[in-house]
Amino acid sequence: MKIHLVCAARPNFMKIAPLYHALQKESWAKPVLVHTGQHYDVNMSDAFFRDLELPPPDIHLEVGSGSHAQQTGNVMIAYEKALLDNKPDLVIVVGDVNSTMAVTLTASKLGIKVAHLEAGLRSFDRTMPEETNRIVTDVLADILWTPSPDADENLDREGIGQDRIRFVGNIMIDSLELLKEKIEKQATYKKLGLIKRGFGVVTLHRPANVDDAETLNRICRKLITISNRIPLVFPIHPRTRANLEQFDFLSSLQAAKGVMTSEPMGYIAFMNLVFNSLLVITDSGGIQEETSYLGISCLTIRPNTERPITTTRGTNQLCGVKDLEKKAYEIMSTGNSRPEKIQYWDGKTASRIVTHLKSLRSSNRLPR
Ligand code: UD1
Repeated sequence: MKIHLVCAARPNFMKIAPLYHALQKESWAKPVLVHTGQHYDVNMSDAFFRDLELPPPDIHLEVGSGSHAQQTGNVMIAYEKALLDNKPDLVIVVGDVNSTMAVTLTASKLGIKVAHLEAGLRSFDRTMPEETNRIVTDVLADILWTPSPDADENLDREGIGQDRIRFVGNIMIDSLELLKEKIEKQATYKKLGLIKRGFGVVTLHRPANVDDAETLNRICRKLITISNRIPLVFPIHPRTRANLEQFDFLSSLQAAKGVMTSEPMGYIAFMNLVFNSLLVITDSGGIQEETSYLGISCLTIRPNTERPITTTRGTNQLCGVKDLEKKAYEIMSTGNSRPEKIQYWDGKTASRIVTHLKSLRSSNRLPR
């Protein structure tokens, strides 16, 4: 059974890798790695292939950046050709980036079965491009693998039949567990002269936070103030760096003694920072989950999250820019809380997916 595993952008690689490795071990499966090229810088893509022990993609669409319509359209045009040439039996997409939706639309129109891994998440905020991508992908996909019970409830409310939905757990935790030893050995934080639980990690890239000069400036000023009390490591996403340069804020951030800026880091180096930090300030989706699993306090600069379980069972707090200092200082005085166990966030999601695929084959719901 020929299975396309599609990845596109940085948060996709750690979702694809565990499944690729698991399918490689199955005699009935032929996994084919497809990279749309949405992210293309070495430190946004190649570094993750290396860290996650993935071979180079079998198919590379090289679509690059563009407006939403351009990026979506370019993926569709390029992927349609690849599908007609390569004819997979199943296409697996992950997450919620533009390529996820574009690939799903293309395969679905050609009558090729699609499975969505990390289905059912909803922020209920249509101003986020990812929310559109999630809704369209879930409406069209034949198989919906969910990470948490709230995702099942969302799909159910949208009228999606139970027969398409399977709760499999959080695949990102598989990558984290697979590479735990290497992450612990890496010691990125020591090389930066930092002390365990004595620093914070910052990531920012959401358009709502980084595309508007005033908002980005407010966030930067808060970060600089917090960094007077606790050092902050800030690997800067290319979108954010471009805006910091354009708005002329990068130099003041770099001049702040407590802020250590860097290029985006690979998975292992970055996770070593998260493992050893006291707190994380972010607007990422995946980092809310990783910190919850690890029991590291996380402040998410967003008004909502598609991952509510991280706020009810994990260590994540949604936080307006105004409250950033206050909440950071609270964490500094109380320390990290013990994480609760979340069902199926256990490093075994890839193996549950393989079992599900086998059962779908034996009941003839997938080609043999
Ligand atoms: C995309 C996803 C977002 C995900 C994020 C993770 C969509 C709509 N957004 O946002 O859901 O959380 O990836 O990082 O799919 N750029 C580079 N080099 C790269 C990639 C991007 O320089 O390798 C720059 C380009 O100027 C590009 C900009 O970053 O225009 C934004 O990239 P894009 O993929 O459009 O969106 P992200 O902000 O990365």
